[in-house]
Amino acid sequence: MPLPIVQDTPETLPPPATALPPAARPRPARVLTAQTHPLGLFVETFGCQMNAHDTERLRELLEPHGYRTVESEEEADLIILNSCDIREKSEHKLMSQLGRLKELKRDRQDLLLAVAGCVAQVEGDKFLRKAPYVDIVVGTDQLRRVPDMVAKVKSGQGAQVENAFWDPADGLDADNAFVGASAQADHNGVTAFVTAMTGCDKKCAYCIVPFTRGKERSRPLPSILEEVTMLVAKGVREIMLIGQTVNTYGLDFPGHSPNFSDLLAAVHDVPGLQRIRFMTSHPRDMTDQLIATMGALPKVCGHLHLPVQAGSNRTLARMGRGYTREWYVERIQKIRAARPDISITTDIIVGFPGETEAEFGETMALLEEVRFDNLFSFAFSERPGTAAADFTDVVPPEERKARLNILQARQRQYTRAFMEKHQDAVLEVLVDGPSRFDPTVLCGKTQQNITVNFTGNAAAGTLARVRVEQVKSNTFFGTLLQDV
Ligand code: SAH
Ligand code: SF4
Ligand code: F3S
Repeated sequence: MPLPIVQDTPETLPPPATALPPAARPRPARVLTAQTHPLGLFVETFGCQMNAHDTERLRELLEPHGYRTVESEEEADLIILNSCDIREKSEHKLMSQLGRLKELKRDRQDLLLAVAGCVAQVEGDKFLRKAPYVDIVVGTDQLRRVPDMVAKVKSGQGAQVENAFWDPADGLDADNAFVGASAQADHNGVTAFVTAMTGCDKKCAYCIVPFTRGKERSRPLPSILEEVTMLVAKGVREIMLIGQTVNTYGLDFPGHSPNFSDLLAAVHDVPGLQRIRFMTSHPRDMTDQLIATMGALPKVCGHLHLPVQAGSNRTLARMGRGYTREWYVERIQKIRAARPDISITTDIIVGFPGETEAEFGETMALLEEVRFDNLFSFAFSERPGTAAADFTDVVPPEERKARLNILQARQRQYTRAFMEKHQDAVLEVLVDGPSRFDPTVLCGKTQQNITVNFTGNAAAGTLARVRVEQVKSNTFFGTLLQDV
């Protein structure tokens, strides 16, 4: 995935609470007319890599029921908004999108509207009070029920809501929590996301994820290997192992085994696989063993996304991150020693409650010390139910925005310097195929996750050597030299 600097702007404070209409469930039965196949499906992804992967799983789950992906909402019989709840702004985006779709639905009585993902998980029934025109509300652990929910709405049983967390007692084995084995993230099947673990037990003070994704659960290693092997047989060459804190993998297994290093080594052995990526890692679980494993396994790409969040120890402690600035910097030094080719990117939150001007200065100093190649930066956003939402020493929204602007301006310089360093370099590129924006050129990714557009002939899924002739913001342009 590309990692642009996210131009986040600070969230506005929540609008004043207004009385919501009573829960709209159950609604009067509305029998829909029978559809002729195929049915149009439009799914919009609002969130992270887990959310994007769930979108693929939804497509897969609905395919046997006659649904095919269409290019526009107007062509769709079922629209699913796969929501994200990470910041207040993500929720606003969902509601404004829904407001628009409500109009579309007014003219199209047979159009079904579903809200899936993290907002659906947290709100469940309550969501129908805000948007009574929605037919389906489905949480993160219940996606496999969507075809059944669609059938129920169509048979006149009214709006459907499912947002329980997956429970082993519901008769499904652990693997079912990870359904959607063959989901491929990339348009041409060169790269695929594979779920290694779900949920998060860390409970950082600002974060809604433990409420939207539930408890940490690692997926059995044989099941992951089976999926990777199957994907490689279908032509996939790069696997992205995903999880909220993917390097925590295995901590919930007896004896903490296998762990993430074991998983990387096992996936590395799959014949035909060229590259392994993983996302997102937590600094606390960046062990010496894992760093050594990254150094030893050539298929593991030279890119590490390691969110630091802040450069001040007091802020890190109040966030509940479980590490210090010194620990983080030491991890970076060790990783760079083990993998001199590594590109390091991060996430930063500015304006966390209580963050002083001086503490923000420590984050800026950390940027200078580490020199991240790129980052995502966010103004702190209060999320209902999280510990930090109750912190009273808030940083005013204008100040959050000002700090964000300062940080992003500085990072733009560092990112530009990182990109320009590659002028005239010859890089290994995994070829994706023709560029989506300009089909006359090919496109692929470097190990460091930078997109390269280039001229020449190379098959999708092969590794190519490309000379960088031009550097443009987050992309390289170049010419193919020869296959590696
Ligand atoms: N699991 C990952 C992060 C998931 S959320 C990890 O532990 O690092 C992605 C990023 O969103 C976080 O790294 C954080 O920088 C940001 N974020 C999460 N909650 C936020 C909030 N309440 N306000 C602002 N940014 C937030
Ligand atoms: Fe959220 Fe922290 Fe868990 Fe990451 S580690 S998902 S930031 S609670
Ligand atoms: Fe958003 Fe849920 Fe991912 S809240 S960041 S879509 S886990």
